[in-house]
Parts: sequence; C-alpha cells; structure tokens
Amino acid sequence: MEKTMSTLHNDVQDYYGKQLQKSEDLKTNACCTLVAPPEHILNALKNVHDEVVAKYYGCGLTIPNELKGLRILDLGSGSGRDCYIAAQLVGETGEVVGVDMTDEQLAVAKRHIEYHREKFGFAKSNVSFVKGNIEQLDDLGFEDESFDIIISNCVINLAQDKNKVLRDAYRLLKPGGEMYFSDVYSDRRISKELQEDKVLWGECLSGALYWNDFLRSAKNGGFTDPRAIENKPITIDNDELEEKVGEIKFFSVTYRLFKIDGLESDCEDYGQAVKYLGTIPTDPHAFDLDDHHHFPKGKIMSVCGNSYKMLHDTRYKKHFEFYGDWSTHYGIFEGCGGAMPFGNSISDDCADGSCC
Ligand SMILES: C[S@@+](CC[C@H](N)C(=O)[O-])C[C@H]1O[C@@H](n2cnc3c(N)ncnc32)[C@H](O)[C@@H]1O
Repeated sequence: MEKTMSTLHNDVQDYYGKQLQKSEDLKTNACCTLVAPPEHILNALKNVHDEVVAKYYGCGLTIPNELKGLRILDLGSGSGRDCYIAAQLVGETGEVVGVDMTDEQLAVAKRHIEYHREKFGFAKSNVSFVKGNIEQLDDLGFEDESFDIIISNCVINLAQDKNKVLRDAYRLLKPGGEMYFSDVYSDRRISKELQEDKVLWGECLSGALYWNDFLRSAKNGGFTDPRAIENKPITIDNDELEEKVGEIKFFSVTYRLFKIDGLESDCEDYGQAVKYLGTIPTDPHAFDLDDHHHFPKGKIMSVCGNSYKMLHDTRYKKHFEFYGDWSTHYGIFEGCGGAMPFGNSISDDCADGSCC
C-alpha cells in the first residue's frame, strides 16, 4: 500500500532529526556533494559554523553566480549551510529564507543566526528559517513572484508530490528568476517496494526522480526548457543497499529552470548571437550557462532563441551584448535529443535532453 504523506514525512523527519547526527552517518554517498566548489564558494564556506557544516546532507552545488541583492528561498534548508553561503553572496541588501520540516535541523540552523551576522559583519541578519512542508508552500504565506532564485539541495527526491513542489516554485519565482537545484535522479522509475524502504528513501535513493518524468513535470510546471549544469554518477558504496537497488543507476544532477515567458519547447534558430563581457566578478574569463553553453569573454557566439532569452530576460542581461532579433526563423537550431540527459549514453553537446 502506498505510504500516506504524513507517514512519509514522519519517516523523513525521524531520519534527518534523530537517526543522522552528522554527514558521516549517511549509509551511502547519495547525499554527498561530488563536485569541488569554486573558490568564492569555498571562501564563503569557511565562515559557516562547524555545527552547521557537520549536518550538511546535500548532493551538489546549488549556488549560482551573480547574486548581489537578490531574495533566495531554500527548499529543505536542513542545518542551513547553503543559506549561510548564499547570505554572504546576496550581501546585506539581499535576503535568504530557508524552509524545512524537521525541528532538529531547524534548531541547528536558527541557533547560529547571530554568529553568522557577526561573522559577515552585517548590521542586521539577512537569513531566516521557517518550519514548513515544501509540498504545502501555499500555507507559508509567501507572496507569488516574490523570490529571485529558489535553491534546493537533495530534498525534492524526498517529497511525495514532486509536481506540486515544482508548480509552487514556479509561482513563487519572479519573472526572469530561476530554480537552481541539485537532486538525485535515476535512469528508470523505482518500484513501490523500494520506495517503502525507509533507509533507501532516507538516503535519497528510492525517491529519486526518474529523469524523463522530471523533465515532463518541470515542463508541465511552466519551466519549459530545463538546463542541466552538471551531473555525476552516484556509486552508493554499500553492499546491502546496492543489492537491493540492483541495476538502477543513480545520478546527482544540478539543474537550472528559468521562469521566462515565451521559451519554446525546442531550440529554434533566429540567427541570434551574444557576446559575454567578462563582467561577472566570479567569472572574469568565461560564463557557463549550463553544461553545454560556455561563453568565453569577448567571443561572439550563435545561440538558439531560448538561450538568448535566458541571457537577455534575466539578471545576466547587463553582462552580454546581444545581436539579432526575432524577425526571421531559420529552422531548428541543431538536432539532438531524446536520450537520457546524463550518464554514458549521451554526447556532451546535447546533455540536457533538449536540442541546442
Ligand atoms: C538530504 S537533507 C538536505 C538538507 C540540506 N538541503 C543540506 O544540503 O544539508 C533533506 C532535508 O530536507 C528536509 N525535507 C524533506 N522533505 C521535506 C518536506 N516535504 N518539506 C520540508 N522539508 C523537507 C529534511 O528535513 C532534511 O532536512
């Protein structure tokens, strides 16, 4: 029988509130960040309290660039590590709000608000934590279109109604905003039996998003062209759990989902191009929009209509020069697609399952 939502939430709260005390207590490497953070994130991490870091259970880098002054929501903020990193990057004029449903995790996050305010040299803290269920974001009183960015690190796999989380995230984002999040994905749908296994679920494995269902949900939720940033296979490293999951392959993937009006389902060619000005302080030499759009400073590069909009209709606009318009359509931008967007079965130049 399918678990009720409240049983599932109780199990997750028990796992993250009582069973686990620190990152090392995890039984697999699913909730472990597999990619080295860039220098500015490492520097920000040095200012985060040890107790907060010890209870980090994320699986990727969820902090995009160019954050000064922005308002960020973290879904499933845990002990607050990503919130305290983001708080430094948005600066005193920005704000970070973390939502989590587990009291023990929230207690750690809240305990160190004043420590971080002082450490960052801010007159007033720009971080707050709210107890709540990310599957019922409508209950938390956030205004529609009130966040610039929504981040989340290894949490949506733990939600039963993943579609609702994505729909609500879309509603809460400002136009031109984005959801930028890391999570666990699988190469196939996972059986009900494995979903009932508390450890496999708690370890972020049996709730993993089957990649194609995720792309469909994201698109249905309004995020027409999901872009993958990076992906790494998860190895599990636990004989008993490996035996249970058999041939299922798992990946940690970071996606960015822009909320932009008029994105098309495919990448269409309007003869447009862009030039990166090298003006984002953390990226002076080149800008990466996703895992297959690398813009070296000063180089004019052809882009499809969707990529043009992702740079033109967002906070990145001032860092680019734009060429062309929408007057002539030259056909599809480039053909590829349909294959799994990560793992071995896909070429690097079409790694998000879309076609540009
Ligand atoms: C794997 S941990 C990740 C925590 C944090 N993002 C990090 O990187 O350390 C998952 C967290 O999501 C929270 N969580 C899971 N499902 C949730 C839900 N439906 N609503 C709110 N929080 C949830 C848990 O309480 C836990 O703190």
